[in-house]
Amino acid sequence: QHRPRVLSGIQPTAGSFHLGNYLGAVRQWVALQESHDAFYMVVDLHAITVPQDPAELRSNTRIAAAQLLAAGLDPERCTLFVQSHVPEHAQLAWVMNCLTGFGEASRMTQFKDKSAKQGADRTSVGLFTYPILQVADILLYQAHQVPVGEDQRQHIELTRDLAERFNTRYGDTFTIPAPYILKETAKIYDLQDPSAKMSKSAASPKGLINLLDDPKASAKKVKSAVTDTDTVIRYDAENKPGVSNLLTIYSTLTGASIAELEQKYEGKMYGALKTDLAEVMVDFVTPFRDRTQEYLDDPETLDSILAKGAEKARAVAAETLATAYDRLGF
Ligand code: ADP
Ligand code: NA
Repeated sequence: QHRPRVLSGIQPTAGSFHLGNYLGAVRQWVALQESHDAFYMVVDLHAITVPQDPAELRSNTRIAAAQLLAAGLDPERCTLFVQSHVPEHAQLAWVMNCLTGFGEASRMTQFKDKSAKQGADRTSVGLFTYPILQVADILLYQAHQVPVGEDQRQHIELTRDLAERFNTRYGDTFTIPAPYILKETAKIYDLQDPSAKMSKSAASPKGLINLLDDPKASAKKVKSAVTDTDTVIRYDAENKPGVSNLLTIYSTLTGASIAELEQKYEGKMYGALKTDLAEVMVDFVTPFRDRTQEYLDDPETLDSILAKGAEKARAVAAETLATAYDRLGF
C-alpha cells in the first residue's frame, strides 16, 4: 500500500484527556487513519521520566487507550498499541543515544523548561534523553510524517538529523520523516486564563475541561468561562481571547464556521453563547465518556485490541531494528 505512514503518541499520565488534547491532536488522528497508514501509541515509557505510581500508570494507560477508541480510532484502520509492549523502542533508543552528541541533546528547549521547573536533583536522565526515545519511536516505523504540535518541532528536527547521521555512517536504513504540524488544528486555551493554553497542569481546575469528568461539571465551567467587559460576540484572539476561545471550541465541536457563529450570535449576549456551548459540550462529552467506560468495562476486548496492535507494530519495528543492528555490526 502506498499511503504515507504517520506515527504519533500520547502520554497516559493524566488519566482523562482534556479538551485541548482531543481538539488539538486526537481528532486529527481519527481523520488521518482514513488517508494514511497510521500508527498511534500510548507512550507509557515516556511517562516514567517523572515518578509514577505503578497501579496508576497501568490504569491510566488503559484509560488512554479506551479514550482513543472512544474518540473513533478503529483498530481495523490504524495500528493502536502501547509503547512498552514493543521492546524495540527501548532497544533502538540506546542506539540513538550513542549517536547523539551531549551538546546536541542539551539544546532541547523542552528539557530546559521542564527541568527548570523540577530542579536538577529531581530531574531524571530519562527526561534528558526522552527526545531520543522519541526519535526511536518514529524511526522504528519508517514514518513519513509525524503529526505534532508546534512545541515538538525541535524533536522532529533531531529525528531527521539522527536518521541522516545513521544513514550516512552505516548505509540507508531509516526514512527521513517530515513534521506534519497540525496548524489547521484548534489551539484551545484555559477557560479561566485565556492567555494560557489549556493544559493538565492548569492553575485552576475551572479552566480545564477533562473529557471524563461529569458533563454537568464541564457545562458549568463553560458557563463561568472568563470573557471580557465588551458585549460583542466576535472572533478577535488578541483583544477578545476568552470569547474567541469559546467560538473556536464551538466551531470545532459542531463544524459551524466562526463566521456562521458570529452571525448567529449577532446582537446576543455572552450568556446565550455560553448556554448553547455548554449544551454542545454535554452532547459531545456524554457519549464519549459512555464509550470510554464500555471499553474499560470489557477488559478482555481492550486487552485483545492492544495485543493485536502490538503484534502489528512489532512486525514493523522488529524488521527495522534487525536491519539497524546488522548495519551496526551486532
Ligand atoms: P498538556 O499540555 O496538557 O501536558 P500534552 O503535552 O500531553 O498535554 O499534549 C498531548 C497532545 O495534545 C499534544 O499533541 C499537544 O499538542 C495537544 N495539546 C495539548 N494541549 C493542547 C491545547 N491546549 N490545544 C491544542 N492542542 C493541545
Ligand atoms: Na505539552
